[in-house]
Amino acid sequence: MSVTVLPSIVTGVGRFMSRRKSTEPRLPWLAMLPLDIGLFLKSARTDAKIARAKRRDGTTAAFETAYRESEDPWASASPRYRYQGLKYDRLVALLPRKRFANALDLGCGLGLLSQKLTNRAERVLGIDIAPAAIEHARRRGAAFDNLAFEPGDILNLPSSLDGKFDLVVVADVLYYLSPLDEGILHAVVRRIADLLTPGGTCLLANHFFFAADPDSKVSRKIHRAFKACPRFTVTSEHRRAFFLATLFSERPSLLPA
Ligand SMILES: C[S@@+](CC[C@H](N)C(=O)[O-])C[C@H]1O[C@@H](n2cnc3c(N)ncnc32)[C@H](O)[C@@H]1O
Repeated sequence: MSVTVLPSIVTGVGRFMSRRKSTEPRLPWLAMLPLDIGLFLKSARTDAKIARAKRRDGTTAAFETAYRESEDPWASASPRYRYQGLKYDRLVALLPRKRFANALDLGCGLGLLSQKLTNRAERVLGIDIAPAAIEHARRRGAAFDNLAFEPGDILNLPSSLDGKFDLVVVADVLYYLSPLDEGILHAVVRRIADLLTPGGTCLLANHFFFAADPDSKVSRKIHRAFKACPRFTVTSEHRRAFFLATLFSERPSLLPA
């Protein structure tokens, strides 16, 4: 996430406070904002470092190095910042009011959102490209008996996972795919549809800053690719400070008989 978005964050706060749904956890944006600027800056530094390392060493090595150099490269678990934890609560609150059987958190990082999903699903699996992230996630999630983590690349998932999940969550991951061209994006969207059970739910979330900044444009492009996929219908869409979340349903009418 780039620091050029900070002015739009500030101007967007008022607008988005008024759109908050009463069923979602209350986010004290104005009180939180000055402290959480540090989180946005750290994220921007990490993203810049990963972009350089990807060009030099390749994708897996770039994320692996990030998690070896800092256990929490995006400060998602840092008690200094409240934004990420509140965002995870908010994302979980957007899910349909039902209990899922098998949830998959793709690009799970430290597994913090996966942990929150354990209240909503019988079993939760987190997958991440960085083995170091998986090590951290396993340690942090050791107390949850319905939570497991495995290394894996979204671009190369085993077919044994197909049709296994009634919930797939993809939060702040897909903008790291490179090149993020339409071909790769559409292949990934179809692959994610393959992972779902008939009529299953996909929650897609990406950062979004209200303006035409480059990061938000990429997020819009990703959400557009999911919307364009005939395998998905949009169940609901949510613009919040500072993320865009769309819930999709795997389209039962296109299922094989
Ligand atoms: C910004 S973090 C988000 C982590 C988590 N989803 C969250 O919301 O806390 C992005 C994560 O995506 C993972 N990732 C990036 N490309 C991936 C890929 N091709 N397959 C699986 N994971 C990937 C990274 O290792 C990193 O942990």
